[in-house]
Amino acid sequence: MARTALVTGGSRGIGAAISKTLKAEGYTVAATYAGNDEAAAAFTEETGIKTYKWNVGDYEDSKAGIAKVEADLGGIDVVVANAGITRDAPFHKMTPEQWQQVIDTNLTGVFNTVHPIWPGMRERGFGRVIVISSINGQKGQFGQVNYAATKAGDLGIVKSLALEGAAKGITANAICPGYIATEMVMAVPEKVRDMIIGQIPTGRLGEPEEIARCVAFLASDDSAFINGSTISANGAQFVV
Ligand code: CAA
Repeated sequence: MARTALVTGGSRGIGAAISKTLKAEGYTVAATYAGNDEAAAAFTEETGIKTYKWNVGDYEDSKAGIAKVEADLGGIDVVVANAGITRDAPFHKMTPEQWQQVIDTNLTGVFNTVHPIWPGMRERGFGRVIVISSINGQKGQFGQVNYAATKAGDLGIVKSLALEGAAKGITANAICPGYIATEMVMAVPEKVRDMIIGQIPTGRLGEPEEIARCVAFLASDDSAFINGSTISANGAQFVV
């Protein structure tokens, strides 16, 4: 029987590429989105992938949404915690609201997404937890104290989940994309973006599909011994 995968923020950007790649690999895929009904409807129309709307920053909302996905599609075998936002500002201008919004979505959102799915994975003796972190959680970034804190925190989550899930057939791994050609990166002022591209030895932005293929590998049976790891996919911009 086809395995079921849930991709948060799965109808746009890197998430859309992940949803499509997992579908092409034979998974039954559910993609969540936060607000843009039109974009989600167009995505479903184009791909046949079901979309579900909830706020990953809200635990009860996430729990109810996941229960609906599992009622529709069966127990979730693969969860890709991808939903993320930026609220960039230099620290001296960053507001408590900008801090909190990013923490709620990018860090607490991972807890809210994985926690309701985890008991079912333990019961079934199989699970793949894949968290989309960031190069900026590894190295820090001017203007991203909030975002970098969440993405570094995400690495702590997967390392700890790996230890807890290993005996139950569950792996937890992170991918740290570098700068990928998505709306999020295109929103960076052009001058700053050009400067950043100049720091990528590969000489270009990454493509969303290059991250999606890493996810497909981590979701597969072939990756069973990879647990608690971080895969960097950044064109050698930051080498750890
Ligand atoms: N390094 C060093 N100095 C920088 C800098 C940088 N990366 N960016 C800006 N500065 C400097 C400016 O040159 C400026 O210097 P002066 O005061 O001497 O002129 C100073 O910092 C302040 O600049 P601004 O007044 O223009 O600051 P601002 O309030 O407009 O905000 C910013 C600037 C929002 C941080 C803007 O620089 C920015 O958006 N930077 C990009 C941050 C970034 O990389 N975000 C990644 C988004 S994509 C993503 O997050 C996905 C992922 O995982 C990779």
